[in-house]
Amino acid sequence: MSQRQIWLASMLIISINIRYLAEGKMIVCICHRVTEKDIKKTIANGAQTVSDISRKCSAGMDCGACRGEIRDLLRAETHKSPSVLAPVVLARAISG
Ligand code: FES
Repeated sequence: MSQRQIWLASMLIISINIRYLAEGKMIVCICHRVTEKDIKKTIANGAQTVSDISRKCSAGMDCGACRGEIRDLLRAETHKSPSVLAPVVLARAISG
């Protein structure tokens, strides 16, 4: 996907969200119409990486423009950076 296509998808996400924000819903993934609430629920049900979330609710499976927002939601919900902290947590668990 080209940078222009990602930019256009991002603009579409923003324009649609302006309408949905007024209704208390925010669509994060326009390709699959996945809301912020859906993603938070997926994280609460055990998704630990962006790939986990994509597999479980399809968000981020097409153009990828939403993957940064998904990553931000994951960090906010888990209060950590999974890609950076996972090796640190593993190392601490191994070393005791
Ligand atoms: S907005 Fe295209 S995959 Fe999510």
